Amino acid sequence: MLHGRGIWEVAGCERLAIPEWTLSDGPVGVRGRKMAKGLMMPAPIAMAASWDVALLATSGEAIGQEARDRKVQVLLAPTVNLHRVPTSGRTFECYSEDPHLSARMAVAFIQAVQAQGVGACIKHFVANEQETDRFIISSEVAERTLRELYFVPFEAAVKEADVKAVMGSYNLVCGTQACANHWLLTDVLRDEWGFSGFVVTDWSALHSAVEPMLAGIDLEMPTGGYWADGKLAELVKNGDTTAAALDETALDEAVITEAVIDERLGNILRFLDWAGRLQGETNHEETLVERPHHTDLARKAATAGTVLVHNRKGLLPLLPEKGLKGTQSIALLGPGSQRPCPGGGGSAELGLRDSPDLPTALREHLGKGVTINQLPCLSLDRSAPELPQQWLSPEGATLEFYAGRSISGEPALIQTNAGVPVMLFGGNWPVEDSYYLSMRQRLSITPDVSGPWRLCGAGMSDVRLFADGQLVSDNRSDAFSLGPGLYAAEGIVNLTAGQPCELVLEHTSERQHLRFIVSDIRADPVLDSAESEADMQAGVKAAADADVAVVVVGSTAHWETENFDRSTLELPLHQDELVRRVIAANPNTVVVVNSGAPMLLPWLDEAAAVLVNWYPGQEGAAALADVLVGAAEPAGRMPVTWPYCFEDTPAGANTPSTHPGIDGKVFYSEGVLIGHRWLDANKIDPAVPFGHGGSYTSFEWDEPELAGEFPELIVRVNVRNTGTRSGSEVVQCYLSHSYLSHSDLSQIAESPNSGDSPLHPPQWLAGFTKLQLSPGETTTAEIPLNFRSFAYWNTNNHDWSIAPGTYQIHLARSSRDVAFILETQVT
Ligand code: BGC
Repeated sequence: MLHGRGIWEVAGCERLAIPEWTLSDGPVGVRGRKMAKGLMMPAPIAMAASWDVALLATSGEAIGQEARDRKVQVLLAPTVNLHRVPTSGRTFECYSEDPHLSARMAVAFIQAVQAQGVGACIKHFVANEQETDRFIISSEVAERTLRELYFVPFEAAVKEADVKAVMGSYNLVCGTQACANHWLLTDVLRDEWGFSGFVVTDWSALHSAVEPMLAGIDLEMPTGGYWADGKLAELVKNGDTTAAALDETALDEAVITEAVIDERLGNILRFLDWAGRLQGETNHEETLVERPHHTDLARKAATAGTVLVHNRKGLLPLLPEKGLKGTQSIALLGPGSQRPCPGGGGSAELGLRDSPDLPTALREHLGKGVTINQLPCLSLDRSAPELPQQWLSPEGATLEFYAGRSISGEPALIQTNAGVPVMLFGGNWPVEDSYYLSMRQRLSITPDVSGPWRLCGAGMSDVRLFADGQLVSDNRSDAFSLGPGLYAAEGIVNLTAGQPCELVLEHTSERQHLRFIVSDIRADPVLDSAESEADMQAGVKAAADADVAVVVVGSTAHWETENFDRSTLELPLHQDELVRRVIAANPNTVVVVNSGAPMLLPWLDEAAAVLVNWYPGQEGAAALADVLVGAAEPAGRMPVTWPYCFEDTPAGANTPSTHPGIDGKVFYSEGVLIGHRWLDANKIDPAVPFGHGGSYTSFEWDEPELAGEFPELIVRVNVRNTGTRSGSEVVQCYLSHSYLSHSDLSQIAESPNSGDSPLHPPQWLAGFTKLQLSPGETTTAEIPLNFRSFAYWNTNNHDWSIAPGTYQIHLARSSRDVAFILETQVT
């Protein structure tokens, strides 16, 4: 009962009539055991862009309801690591760069999921801000920084939402495995914050048996790890001798006793009782109910998070109340113009249900008189077909297995296989007594078509593909997702019809901990460059011929996914060129950025209008059509800074030490200056500031008022919709502290953990509220502040303190658009 018995299931106990139970990803919907296509909400970054706590609650309720239908007891969500690295592969899956915004989103979501009787599992605890080397990197992060930034959403989830499960992350924190870290999992999580749920490992995150259990892990996932197959019983029976033998790190004193097992099991049983699993429930049949109001919610949520970056020429919305401003033809261009990519890759990936595409959705709003000319112009698709069957030789492939994480010494086993792909896991694991296996796969292909072919070597972990002895692809240096869990690299090889080519795929797990081997080789004929140019030209011509051009550019699950970081902030392939050529052909061009993370927008000022619709989920096309024509407003505000270049961000400030790491360590040397705080401190202009977002209407704010006794203050401001359309305004409240002069700022970064330093970031987000206003309506925004809003983590007494001095309270529309400043004195 303390380890998985499959990828998603945990055993119950027949004797005690406790049924088995299920954990399932998360966070945009529920995968369930069958991975059937269910509700797919917008990516968490898009949800956070709504700055709408109530919307997060409604979404949590819908996803929790679906988890119940699908007999899932634990939803592996939310993901609350912070956007420290804008190229991180899981940026789309996390809410924000800001700890306060992330915490508010997480608490609302968790409370609503758990109100459905489904446990939420907040992840990944902690300092898991990058995918590169995620299994082996140590995040070197100071105590104060952990407390003020990376702990914040977890702490709030425990204290305010009574979250039922926490997932330990793969990485190390200051040299200790996060899943074997007693200070994190017991001292802070349980003893200090009062966590009463259970702690689960990330999938295959353990490196040993004893230390993690003593540190505070309750459940090892999935099957086949350190605690399965009677290994734990042996440990209890034999005490430390067996423990030392099994462990990578031998522990002299550590012994797992029955009392420890009871405590771990107690944590799980208490959860099962809460989830109603101890009351004789036997029905595990998954049902999939499609609820129309969930479809409506997904559509509304996608518009709520869409950010209007600018609308300089007032081109949007295309269909104000009276007609289409004379628009008779629209060129709908770009790789996302048929259907915006709904979500990112990895464990958060879900199958897409039937839903309208963008031309269809637009057509529903526009009369027959308007022509829509849709052309993709280029493709972001990196998938590749399987190797043609007729290329494979009848001998099949030879598989050489090496016991260990690299290919060295004599093979432990040699097998033949019919061809590719190979999938080894659990029951068909070929070398029983070896936890890690590396594999070299050899096969001969005889192509029947001559020419340049794109060959992809793909696997669950590190793969290198060679053709006739030459390295073709190495996913350790350049990787993309070929589907959930399959990471590929590609290279071009000239093949000659009738001439055999020897392929070798090496699969190692030096940087991995998954006890899975999946490997595949795929091949695709290389596109003729003249054809690509013709596709681009067709798009540019369509733009020139139309009244308005809408270009949907961005990325996809092939480019943004778990397991690796993007190599650049640029839009993939020739998308910038496409945008520039379309703008040159038609000044009335709206650019829509359909990505899960910040991108560089070198043409930002030249476009007539720019929208960011993120990864918008299953109803993304309908929602985008709603926003384009004005049936809905783009109600989002940036939950992350969009920089002009990677070097402008804390992760890019001192590479490779600040990202992706050096000698197995990544240094969070910016301290508490994450995201917009870093740019403020270093006086760097962002391309799009944190908190920024335009509107189709306009607002006026009155002078704000401050009520209450420090630190329990309430900031009030009246906001009036002065435009002619309904719209929403996000009132943001940032604090700053007088002790800080700009010359002091570098000290924070250099010594983030410097004792009782009262230095704060130049400003930090302390509260916000979102208002919905009809034309002419006035409402009062109320933002409560409290002790923690003003406090910093004092590393002298390891507790929260408030520094004396003057605090400024900024009422703002974004981190760079402050409307009013109030002051309060603290002695
Ligand atoms: C991810 C987790 C996920 C788990 C199960 C891991 O690789 O890091 O977020 O919940 O797989 O799919």
